[in-house]
Amino acid sequence: MKRFDIIVGDITRSDAEAIVNAANTSLLGGSGVDGAIHRAAGRSLLEECRTLGGCETGKAKLTKGYDLPAKYVIHTPGPIWQGGGLGEPALLASCYRSCLSLAAANNIESVDFPSISTGIYGYPLPQAATVALRAMMDWLAEHELPRRVRMVCHTEATAAVYRQTWNLWYAEEKAERI
Ligand code: AR6
Repeated sequence: MKRFDIIVGDITRSDAEAIVNAANTSLLGGSGVDGAIHRAAGRSLLEECRTLGGCETGKAKLTKGYDLPAKYVIHTPGPIWQGGGLGEPALLASCYRSCLSLAAANNIESVDFPSISTGIYGYPLPQAATVALRAMMDWLAEHELPRRVRMVCHTEATAAVYRQTWNLWYAEEKAERI
C-alpha cells in the first residue's frame, strides 16, 4: 500500500477512515466541498457541528461521518487568500498538521484531504500544493499514524498541479521519507 497518493475523485465517496472538510470558522456548512460533505453526511452532521462552537482558521475538529462511507470528518477552516502576506502559508500548513495530529490522536489509520483553500478561498493552486505537500510529507516522515494519506483532487487539472509539485520536490527522496 502506498503511504501517500494523489488521486482524482469525489471525497464524499472516499473509503478512508476520515475525510477532511475544507470548512469555514462557523463549522455550520457552506458550498464547495463543505456543502457536498454535509449533503452526503445528512442533517446529523450539522447537528453535531452546532455543538462544537466553531473552529479557528488553521485548527481542526473531529465529528462522526454519519451517512458518509468515512467514519469521521475532520473539519478545518483554511485561510482566505489575501495576497500571501498575512500568514496564509503558515495557516494553510497548520490546517494539514492539525488534521493529521487529530487523526493520529484518535488512532485513525487513513485520511483523505481535499485541496484546502484553493476553491472559494482563492489560494493560488501551485503555492497551496507546495505548502500542503510539504506539511503532509514532513508529518509522514515523523509519525506512524495515519498509515495512509491521500490528496483527493476534484479535477484532473488540480491533480496535475499536485503531481508536478510532488515530482519537483519529493520524487527523488520518496524511498527515504515515506
Ligand atoms: N471532492 C473533492 N474535492 C472537492 C469536492 C469534492 N466533492 N468539491 C469541491 N472540491 P472549496 P475552500 C474541491 O471552495 O477554498 C465553503 O463554502 C474544489 O474543487 O470547497 O477551502 C466553506 O464553507 C477545490 O479544489 O474550499 C468555506 O466558506 C477544493 O475542493 C469555503 O467554501 C476546495 O474548494 C472554503 O473554501
